[in-house]
Amino acid sequence: MKILGFFGKGGTGKTTLTALILRELVRRGEVGLLAVDADANECLASLLGAEGTPRLSDMLQKYKRQREESPELTGLDIFQNLFDTLLMEGEQEGYDMLIMGRGEGSGCFCAINDLLQAVFEKTVEGENYNYLLMDCEAGVEHIARKTSGKINDAIIVTDASKVSLDTLKRIKEVASEVGTTIENYYVVANKTRPDMLDKVEKTAESLGFKYLGAIPEDPNFTEIAYEGKSVFDLPDDSPAVIATKKITDQLLGA
Ligand SMILES: Nc1ncnc2c1ncn2[C@@H]1O[C@H](COP(=O)(O)OP(=O)(O)OP(=O)(O)O)[C@@H](O)[C@H]1O
Ligand SMILES: [Mg+2]
Repeated sequence: MKILGFFGKGGTGKTTLTALILRELVRRGEVGLLAVDADANECLASLLGAEGTPRLSDMLQKYKRQREESPELTGLDIFQNLFDTLLMEGEQEGYDMLIMGRGEGSGCFCAINDLLQAVFEKTVEGENYNYLLMDCEAGVEHIARKTSGKINDAIIVTDASKVSLDTLKRIKEVASEVGTTIENYYVVANKTRPDMLDKVEKTAESLGFKYLGAIPEDPNFTEIAYEGKSVFDLPDDSPAVIATKKITDQLLGA
């Protein structure tokens, strides 16, 4: 079981890379794949064509009620019962999907974060999945909130801008402050001018990140977005798909 968390500044391509790598794993016939949309903006499901995927937040009322009714059960006990149903509902072709969803008006995500934490524990302990791909919110707040307590591979998506590259340093600092375990730190450049890639690679390596390569600007994304299609509709020879193959090779080989 490998947990891959996708991080980075807003708009750098976290959701796009999560979807591209999932597409590649499905195409390779990898089994036991779970995609988690951990961003309240919920973009991953539509990019994957997985609309109708259940939300953890929708489960919240049921969860709260059962906790009140059955004080003898722990949160995790209750969660496990609800979780199996949820995963069945989130089944897609070749992978399962979960959406974290939004908090309840007040903007507090604590209860949902508890649930997400339980998802991790359950999947890690149960070994139901071989790969858990988690599309995170912009910045590194997820780590700070400890919703991502165990991560094998942190993949930071960046362009060559200073503000985006600054995220690299911050993610390591925050992870060590809150005691999150991250085994491998990777960097992927996205939508970056070829003459600026050298800066990304050098910055990554100077901070102890492994540079996995670059996803080029790919006009096919505009096309699929316009037509409401998914990443699975991208042509196999599309530049982003080809670049993702190489990046996935490195991730799996590590
Ligand atoms: N390689 C690429 N080529 C062309 N367009 C891209 C590429 N990568 C991302 N995009 C486009 O850039 C926009 C932002 O990408 P994406 O949503 O993946 O970023 P994000 O980091 O997940 O953003 P957010 O912080 O809002 O979650 C999207 O419209 C996406 O289609
Ligand atoms: Mg996103």
